[in-house]
Amino acid sequence: MACLDNFYSFFYMLVLLTVAAAVGSVTASPPAVKAAYWPSWAENFPPSAIDTSFFTHIYYAFLMPNNVTYKFDIENSTAILSNFTTTLRHKNPPVKTLFSIGGGGADSTIFTRMASEAGSRKVFIDSSLEVARKFGFDGLDLDWEFPESPKEMQDLGCLLDEWRLAIESEAKSTGQAPLLFTAAVYFSVDFFISEVYRKYPVDSVTQNLDWMSPMCFDYHGSWNTSFTGAHAALYDPKSNISTSYGLESWLRAGVPRSKLVMGLPLYGRSWTLKDPNLNQIGSPGSGVGPGDRGFMPLSKVEEFNKKNGSTVKFDIETVSTYSFAGSTWIGYDDVLSTTTKIGFAQAHGLRGYFFWALSYESEWEISRQASRAWILND
Ligand SMILES: *[C@@H]1O[C@H](CO)[C@@H](O)[C@H](O)[C@H]1NC(C)=O
Ligand SMILES: *[C@@H]1O[C@H](CO)[C@@H](O)[C@H](O)[C@H]1NC(C)=O
Ligand SMILES: *[C@@H]1O[C@H](CO)[C@@H](O)[C@H](O)[C@H]1NC(C)=O
Ligand SMILES: *[C@@H]1O[C@H](CO)[C@@H](O)[C@H](O)[C@H]1NC(C)=O
Ligand SMILES: *[C@@H]1O[C@H](CO)[C@@H](O)[C@H](O)[C@H]1NC(C)=O
Ligand SMILES: *[C@@H]1O[C@H](CO)[C@@H](O)[C@H](O)[C@H]1NC(C)=O
Repeated sequence: MACLDNFYSFFYMLVLLTVAAAVGSVTASPPAVKAAYWPSWAENFPPSAIDTSFFTHIYYAFLMPNNVTYKFDIENSTAILSNFTTTLRHKNPPVKTLFSIGGGGADSTIFTRMASEAGSRKVFIDSSLEVARKFGFDGLDLDWEFPESPKEMQDLGCLLDEWRLAIESEAKSTGQAPLLFTAAVYFSVDFFISEVYRKYPVDSVTQNLDWMSPMCFDYHGSWNTSFTGAHAALYDPKSNISTSYGLESWLRAGVPRSKLVMGLPLYGRSWTLKDPNLNQIGSPGSGVGPGDRGFMPLSKVEEFNKKNGSTVKFDIETVSTYSFAGSTWIGYDDVLSTTTKIGFAQAHGLRGYFFWALSYESEWEISRQASRAWILND
């Protein structure tokens, strides 16, 4: 495996140097983003445990506004919030911190209601800036999963327009650098795995955000156990449900390369195979495998593989990794699939990458290799 890793590193180095030479603008673009989300509920994983040498930005996940006032009620998380930025600033090297609002587990109807009226948008925006400054964050991030209709996409556009104005005006009046402003978004700009057509407000996201972070994962999982799937496939020869399609859809829509940060999962998704002898990507499944509805942090995938002597395969067609033992099948990304995707992101001139989530790997191996593999604008 080590030889293969070196081979790929060498190969991508060549590709990247060629790309960098051909596209002058790549070298002129802003510094790379190597980010990760820190789940505040992670057990035995305080901010002090974060090795900041592999990252440029760390997101505190998550805060949510009150569902009636749309202000942040932060009394209960105050201690950990005030520790977060001071702890990470005093680490070597220091990283920038952002707090993220929302998340996959949040009640997204709060965003729907808040964003639909100018009055509630203002209360929410003002409260978010207050929290950011009070706790010393360098920026804020919106993780609204997901606006569900064209109307909600339009409201999102208004929210981002007003938020950006508020950020600039706050910076002017306090004499501080403007807060960083980012958003986690769906893997594709307008192709949702759903019946309802909608498209992100491209002008607004481009003008207002410092960058956006497509969540390039969760393409397959426990919600469909009929077939196994590479849940973060870079390519899918049979459908558009892939990272390459998603990122290219953002680029085709006109979002600048320097504003796209590719999502990478530090977790796998598991299935129970219908027939243990049919154990490839797309093989028939009969149910979910181990984990929380099939969700397995990378450390658990590795533990499972080791204990059960799993067969581990790298799939070049999708650029993903999978393992199987008996009737259990797990799709995930290891060092090789992750660094290959990082080569893809650099060849496309993207700004960087982010991981969901920090606490899921045990020895920093993927974070370390990813950081090393990103050689542009470091
Ligand atoms: C707000 O949250 C509370 C507590 O979770 C719940 O009882 C209430 O119904 C919610 N209100 C709205 C408008 O959703
Ligand atoms: C804070 O925590 C206390 C005790 O756990 C709980 O009763 C209260 O509802 C919480 N407040 C908020 C705003 O979440
Ligand atoms: C804050 O950080 C200090 C020192 O790193 C630690 O002793 C304390 O327990 C932390 N508090 C919380 C609430 O995490
Ligand atoms: C499950 O996935 C397969 C292949 O990806 C697809 O053909 C099928 O329609 C899906 N079933 C449901 C219920 O979504
Ligand atoms: C993928 O999307 C393109 C449009 O961007 C469409 O022309 C094509 O038919 C789609 N392919 C599949 C397999 O759905
Ligand atoms: C595989 O390993 C896990 C530990 O990760 C264990 O709980 C499980 O029982 C093992 N055996 C099988 C057949 O899954």
